[in-house]
Amino acid sequence: MTFIRIPKSWSIPESKVTSENAYWNRRRFLKTIVTAGVSASILPLTGCQQSKSAQSKSPTELALAKSLNLPKIQPLETNPAFASVNRPITKEELAGQYNNFYEFGGTKSIWSNAQRLPTKNWQVEVTGLVNNPRTYDLDEIKQKFPLEERIYRFRCVEAWSMTLPWVGFPMKALIEAVEPKSEAKFVRFTSFYDPDITTGPGFHLGSLPWPYQEGLRIEEMANELAFFAVGIYGHDLPKQHGAPLRMVIPWKYGFKGAKSIVKIEFLDTQPPTYWNTIDPREYDFEANVNPNKPHPRWSQATEKFISTGPGLSWERIETLPYNGYGEYVANLYS
Ligand code: MTE
Repeated sequence: MTFIRIPKSWSIPESKVTSENAYWNRRRFLKTIVTAGVSASILPLTGCQQSKSAQSKSPTELALAKSLNLPKIQPLETNPAFASVNRPITKEELAGQYNNFYEFGGTKSIWSNAQRLPTKNWQVEVTGLVNNPRTYDLDEIKQKFPLEERIYRFRCVEAWSMTLPWVGFPMKALIEAVEPKSEAKFVRFTSFYDPDITTGPGFHLGSLPWPYQEGLRIEEMANELAFFAVGIYGHDLPKQHGAPLRMVIPWKYGFKGAKSIVKIEFLDTQPPTYWNTIDPREYDFEANVNPNKPHPRWSQATEKFISTGPGLSWERIETLPYNGYGEYVANLYS
């Protein structure tokens, strides 16, 4: 996990969703340094704040644009219950180049490494304590489960946040399809892992507990908010965001949202999970966003909100209990 050094705050306009074309008004990320998933620093981006024509984009900018230029998901409706969070939506090219995906490196700017992820013919095995275990093709998932857009707050335990327009379906739809048995109390989600592809040359974080795995109580997975994303910003998920299927649990810290899911298992006991195995004091299994419970390295009272710019801009705002979703989930923890 990273420590972020913040440039001067910008005042963030309460603008609505910025169109994809407008996202090119930006600065560029510099270096992020991270060691063993534990500490890092990031410097602000420098560079042009003016809109750039396609001709004047650098090779890096063109590669980033390519990574984000994915098939649109249509028709697509925004779920009216999750159409706004009273915060501007984070610009796509900021969200798409400021990522945590440790399989591809320990910096925030691993979006280009993540293009190695092989997403063709993707399958997801759903197994364990269910009446209907089965393996789904990704195309089948996209057809079987009705897709919708939801705009959610996204809060990382490193105390930065974004607002992201996900496309996907509620996890409870999968629960209904596979019919868990009464003994099923927990669910484990496993990310794609292939050491030849993921932890590439020059990237070694020691003997970390790969593959990346996360877990939920089954009641948490059945909550209306728990979501599988197959897209973002109206199109398929870019690889850096965890294509082609990832978890989105908006009332929990971002590390609970495993990317590039290949396996979902219904279990009778709480499974070990990636960060919790590495350091249970810093990453508890529950990991609900809680401004009153400081992390050993980050006070969680406030967050640095990454918004619309111009360029990489931050605004310090107060963190809300359950990331503002208490009305949906507080009853799970009473
Ligand atoms: N999933 C996998 N497989 N590997 C990871 O390193 N990082 C987590 C989560 N899911 C991670 C992962 C963390 S710490 C965060 S904050 C979010 O992904 C970041 O999601 P984003 O890059 O789409 O913003």
